[in-house]
Amino acid sequence: MINFIVESHDGQHIPISVPEGISLNLMEVLKASDYDILATCGGMALCATCMVQVLKGGQQLASALDQELDMLDRMPASDDKSRLSCQIAVNEQLEGCVFKIAG
Ligand code: FES
Repeated sequence: MINFIVESHDGQHIPISVPEGISLNLMEVLKASDYDILATCGGMALCATCMVQVLKGGQQLASALDQELDMLDRMPASDDKSRLSCQIAVNEQLEGCVFKIAG
């Protein structure tokens, strides 16, 4: 299992475990876990409504590609911890990470 944490808006840490080998991105897992994420573009890195902050473990994730960086640059609320959850593949790199859903 791959285990990571989602920090709720009130600061609670909610553990999420997903099986290894699934080909989903983080946005899809968060939506499946009933988090309120619009993801209006369906994971194309075009809307930023799936933005998260990586509070822990950001250095162990694959780097953002140009399309994701371009979209984040356009978001006033983004900072160096911001990522688009639709662009983060769920794999063992997420083990121990802590994410906070933006907005
Ligand atoms: S779902 Fe639109 S940018 Fe991620």
